[in-house]
Amino acid sequence: MEQPQQSAGPEAAPETAPGAAPDAAPDAAPGAGKPPLRVGMVGYAFMGAAHSQGWRTVGHVFDLPRRPVLAALCGRDGAAARSAAERHGWAAVETDWRALVARDDIDLVDICTPGDSHAEIAVAALAAGKHVLCEKPLANTVAEAETMTRAAEEAYGRGQVAMVGFNYRRVPATAFARRLVADGRLGTLRHVRVTYLQDWLADPAFPLTWRLRREHAGSGALGDLGAHIVDLAQYLAGEPLAGVSALTETFVRERPLPGGPSRGLAAGSATGTPGVSTGTVTVDDAAVFTGRFASGALAAFEATRYATGRKNALRIELNGERGSLAFDLERLNELWFHDTTGPGAEAGFRRILVTEPEHPYLDAWWPPGHGLGYEHTFVHQARDLVHAIAAGTRPDPSFADGLQVQRVLAAVEESAEKNSVYTPVAG
Ligand SMILES: NC(=O)c1ccc[n+]([C@@H]2O[C@H](COP(=O)([O-])OP(=O)(O)OC[C@H]3O[C@@H](n4cnc5c(N)ncnc54)[C@H](O)[C@@H]3O)[C@@H](O)[C@H]2O)c1
Repeated sequence: MEQPQQSAGPEAAPETAPGAAPDAAPDAAPGAGKPPLRVGMVGYAFMGAAHSQGWRTVGHVFDLPRRPVLAALCGRDGAAARSAAERHGWAAVETDWRALVARDDIDLVDICTPGDSHAEIAVAALAAGKHVLCEKPLANTVAEAETMTRAAEEAYGRGQVAMVGFNYRRVPATAFARRLVADGRLGTLRHVRVTYLQDWLADPAFPLTWRLRREHAGSGALGDLGAHIVDLAQYLAGEPLAGVSALTETFVRERPLPGGPSRGLAAGSATGTPGVSTGTVTVDDAAVFTGRFASGALAAFEATRYATGRKNALRIELNGERGSLAFDLERLNELWFHDTTGPGAEAGFRRILVTEPEHPYLDAWWPPGHGLGYEHTFVHQARDLVHAIAAGTRPDPSFADGLQVQRVLAAVEESAEKNSVYTPVAG
């Protein structure tokens, strides 16, 4: 593939057809003849790679009403951004997100940057007439999320769509769990128990990356992992949390400054470099909270980056009058279902291998038993967003859903500051 082009601004369109990759043959591409959906992505590291994979793959797997085109990638370091664009298949490069947003050959802006830039980029992109996909958490504060949601609502009136990237809704097993709950298979819900456990911070020598600084990340394990499990719990329960009672903790308060850019969850430390010292961690390392759903069902949440041995253990269990469901992201093709309506002597959790064509998203993939992985959630996210754009329907989850999660996170922080007092979720 040729080096992606770097444009000097919105006028400097690539020599190839607008949005087309330099070496692509658009007529031979899947979905040829369908209107293109030209994507511009900001940020190209962990989520940038995952979203690139989603956009690259989705049109090859699903029959879509529009043809996604990886039109332009934005990163602040031109050389690094060009290299990422080449690696991930983007046709052009920008080094300022404002230039990306101003391009008239971009239909959708995909935001894969830390939370401190979500609001500014999303609001500008919506004002410029673009659809928006924004990574979670929607913003760093409730006020930002409210501004973004207002902008999204106004833009929806102009035919634009804005979605937040809670990709764990798009694991076939969780989507199928939602279907079972919505069909009443659990009956009245009593409990939701959910943990999201990682261990990449357990080493006190791990450096002070942006994820550990409030001004960049908004909060720590709470906004990063807690946002996912709050969204998933509310999505599966089909109702919002009414209030929470919380504890948060920062176990290691000083960490070495980073020795260079972080890569996903990994980063090099500058320890040992003369003159380089440590900095203060300004976010939570872990958050533990209980909650009450509007219906009266109770919930328990735990989000931590210190659960040694747990790498990406998102586990959720729902108990209802008629049955229970259990899911573990580290075994994501499986859903466990206990149905109390069968013969008592045969009762017990049974494993459903969620790989049948009747299961969500699976009819486009492999024969039964040939499982999917983490990356497929981003393909499904792209699929659902393209359909929402083509149909002009509200995306799921919308910015309003992202705002509601933000309000739960704010209630958790408020409760933790007030000795765990039960704190209603605003709105
Ligand atoms: N959905 C998920 O499962 C999931 C997983 C990890 C992270 N996230 C979210 O994705 C977002 C990004 O996280 P990440 O893990 O990809 O981080 P990362 O550090 O791996 O990548 C961040 C990228 O943003 C770029 N960037 C930062 N500020 C920028 C700016 N002003 N203009 C242009 N580029 C800028 C960086 O150069 C880098 O390319 C965060 O909101 C995070 O919470 C979601």
